[in-house]
Amino acid sequence: MGRFYATTPIYYVNDAPHIGHAYSTVNADAVCRWHRLAGDEVFFLTGTDEHGLKVARAAEEHGLSPQEQADRTSARFVEAWELLDIAYDDFIRTTEQRHHRAVQALLQKIHDNGDIELGTYEGPYCVSCEAYYAEGDLVDGRCPIHLRPVEIFKEDNWFFKLSRYQQALLDWYEANPDAVTPESKRNEAIGLIRQGLDDISITRSSLTWGVPVPWAAGQVFYVWYDALVNYVTAIGYPDDEERFEAWWPAVHHVIGKDILRFHCVYWPAMLLAAGIDPARHVHVHGYLLVGGEKMSKSSTKLTAIAPADLVADFGVDAFRYHCLRNIAFGPDGEFSYEGMVARYNADLANNLGNLLSRVSTVVDKKCGGTGPAPSPDSPLATVAADVVAETAAGWERVAPSDALEATWRLIRETNAYLEAHEPWKAEPGPAVDAVLGDALEALRIVALLATPAMPSATAEIWRRIGLPGAPGDNVLPAAAAWGGYPGGVPVEKGSPLFPRK
Ligand code: MSP
Repeated sequence: MGRFYATTPIYYVNDAPHIGHAYSTVNADAVCRWHRLAGDEVFFLTGTDEHGLKVARAAEEHGLSPQEQADRTSARFVEAWELLDIAYDDFIRTTEQRHHRAVQALLQKIHDNGDIELGTYEGPYCVSCEAYYAEGDLVDGRCPIHLRPVEIFKEDNWFFKLSRYQQALLDWYEANPDAVTPESKRNEAIGLIRQGLDDISITRSSLTWGVPVPWAAGQVFYVWYDALVNYVTAIGYPDDEERFEAWWPAVHHVIGKDILRFHCVYWPAMLLAAGIDPARHVHVHGYLLVGGEKMSKSSTKLTAIAPADLVADFGVDAFRYHCLRNIAFGPDGEFSYEGMVARYNADLANNLGNLLSRVSTVVDKKCGGTGPAPSPDSPLATVAADVVAETAAGWERVAPSDALEATWRLIRETNAYLEAHEPWKAEPGPAVDAVLGDALEALRIVALLATPAMPSATAEIWRRIGLPGAPGDNVLPAAAAWGGYPGGVPVEKGSPLFPRK
């Protein structure tokens, strides 16, 4: 038992949520749900990033004030997360007063420490990234991420002396070898630091939509230097020291690889400069690709898929399952509707759905609808013990796909066990009861283990096999020990949980 603090990126409010955002949020949510199930005290933070030029321009295009634009779009993220069963503990908006206070306090501290100085900057800027690029980073004169034209910006403003932090960052990464996962992304972060670090322009005089700089009238902070601070705002910085220290620095930031530089270079340097320990874990995932391209909400191609469209076709749990299981956390993964149908039919309709329906049908026929107890020495008991350990290890290392693959092994083995014994062909009696009791126990354990991915479907399985409460009321690993199914409880023969597509 311990504390587990996890965050998603806070999403820009220039446009509506798409499944790329959902991918990050579902992964973080499932990992948090796992930790709750493991008895940890969890704080799960998400929210919206509401300042900056990109949002100001979107507002202008829509004929809205930036605040109206932010209010409307932030509400769409709240709605999307409600639809996807995201159990966050706090939803932060960077336009909130508590956040302004935190940004000003943290940056004032860096200023007081002497690491923010006045200067002039001129260079190519990508508004979609809200970031300056070096000429050498551009691809055919365009932003390397969005492949859109950059704009040349020149500003007199305040600079964070990032160049002073190269060695301190390298030392910190050496002392914290598990700070960035997967390993390839850690190497990328260290590579960026080794290349040499330029000072960063962190204020804007050309823009009013931001957090005012306390020591320079007429300037606001650069949106990234405002946004990153949300992770400390939400746990009480700067007012509630006790709360802050309870959760920091043992945080787990879940991010996409597009924002690695900000989280793995700028953010730890900022924190070091403010005298705060850097965030202990950053988990970096790849892109969801549609037709080989990164999905983007600003794309004019039909690649921006809304989570609601897929939920309408497959249901919330299947959508969550697909995000977690089909696209491993780390590398890029191709998303397609056909791929989703195939995964759904194989894992949910055929494996899990079929197990539940055949067990409940045979219990109805051979046991009068009352579920028998499992046998203590079932061959499935050792499989289950291995699966529980492997599933736990997968969630612990933020590899949901591995965790679910392990859980599904118990489903497959249980289906094979039923096929080997064919209880549907046998006469009712102790032998049939033993096989069905074992299968019910395996289903109970699967329902527990798959709860982080599919909270509703697993609660329904739990109910149908006659168990009280919900799987999420239990604490693992104790609750997943073999033999927990009581027997003598009613099993319901219901309609298919995952009808074939
Ligand atoms: N506002 C910043 C983040 C600030 S965090 C302090 C931002 N916002 S964003 O709306 O553009 O969201 C970026 C994040 O959304 C990515 O890092 C990733 O987590 C997720 N994704 C957006 N598109 C994605 C894909 N195509 N694939 C996977 N994740 C994607 O950047």
